[in-house]
Amino acid sequence: MQKLSIQGGTRLAGEVRVAGAKNAALPILAACLLTAAPVRISNVPQLNDVRTMVKLLQRMGVAVEAHAHAVTLDARHVAEPFAPYDLVKTMRASILTLGPLVARFGEARVSLPGGCAIGERPVDLHIKGLTAMGAEIAIESGYIHAKARRLEGTRIFMDTVTVTGTENLMMAACLAQGTTVLENAAREPEVIDLARCLVAMGAKIRGHGSDVITIEGVSALFGVEHAVMPDRIEAGTFLAAAAATRGEVTLTGAPVESLDAVMEKLREAGARIEAADSTVRLSMAARPKAVSVRTAPHPGFPTDMQAQFIALNTVAEGTALVTETIFENRFMHVQELRRLGAHIDIQGNTAVVHGMEALAGATVMATDLRASASLVIAGLVADGTTVIDRIYHLDRGYEHIESRLGELGARIARVA
Ligand code: EPZ
Repeated sequence: MQKLSIQGGTRLAGEVRVAGAKNAALPILAACLLTAAPVRISNVPQLNDVRTMVKLLQRMGVAVEAHAHAVTLDARHVAEPFAPYDLVKTMRASILTLGPLVARFGEARVSLPGGCAIGERPVDLHIKGLTAMGAEIAIESGYIHAKARRLEGTRIFMDTVTVTGTENLMMAACLAQGTTVLENAAREPEVIDLARCLVAMGAKIRGHGSDVITIEGVSALFGVEHAVMPDRIEAGTFLAAAAATRGEVTLTGAPVESLDAVMEKLREAGARIEAADSTVRLSMAARPKAVSVRTAPHPGFPTDMQAQFIALNTVAEGTALVTETIFENRFMHVQELRRLGAHIDIQGNTAVVHGMEALAGATVMATDLRASASLVIAGLVADGTTVIDRIYHLDRGYEHIESRLGELGARIARVA
């Protein structure tokens, strides 16, 4: 199994271009199921999760032409509206095919996602919303069976803010009879990027980016060419790594307008940040100061940056409180960071991080995607060699991370 080997102690310096966003690309790829016309998606990141989504769509009968960072999808002939367990278990976001399939084909059989390292992560709000739109849903042998002659528009209040739940119901509502209103909807930039793509396909959507989204159903959607937005979590990860190594890094093609919460906290930690258009320049002249964060739905501090900020705080001056409010089990990286000499106490859903002068390299294990990013950051600052095992987690969400960090001066290599 591949590992990453990192020689710590290098200040990151230089320029790196931000790739397309995983969490926008996945729903946008699934949206191809809503139309019989070809869609061409560009700025698609080369990630294992994207490859899984493409494989899933092909399994349904979607014709796919894939290039380096662009994919053309043609869902004219979907033979089987079926998402099998063997694919869904590797990527929960497969659930994003449920809404489009039942909306366009009147039926879908999609495996329940199953367990996840970071939390229980039910999909009850996806099912509740589709049921409210008139779908008949049964759960049998681990599969969601959904049927509807034509979905009906209605008012849906989601009692928890859910990103993929909002995306699934928004896609389904595009072909429903009448108007759907999603209340307490997610405001994440990826939801907005999906809505923009759907509007370009002929959907009637307004309010995306706010917590009330209104969708007027239409009878059919058209083909589209859409470029996926840049990845704000990848951008945030590079900025946190630059700050932790007291480096000087410039991001190009960055989603500046989606990085407010992260940049504000990095400034609090002592980073100097200049951001304009799609360029962010960060420099950290001195040891970072401890910075406390509390995760929340957008525009709050993203849970997908929580682990990276714990890593930053392990070598900061002072003590930070990092509170996770979205997922109930998202501190798996803490035990691994302790192996590098970090001093962290867990009190309920808060990690109390006591900053240390230095960390020491060791062998650690990645447990989920963002946890692995935090181990990479800690490995970059630790003295000596850090070896990270199970990096398949990292490859799910970061494109060629070792070569791009290598361009910033990191001494990092993929080893067998
Ligand atoms: C999306 O997951 C992202 N994934 C996650 O990124 C991200 O952490 C999360 O949103 C929160 O920002 C994709 O977009 C593919 P949720 P999602 O539904 O949609 C509860 C990464 O690292 N909930 O917004 O699955 C749920 O348990 C990944 O890139 C229900 O109770 O997350 C959680 O506590 C990890 N019932 C909360 O809502 C439901 O039906 C938010 O989850 C749905 C969710």
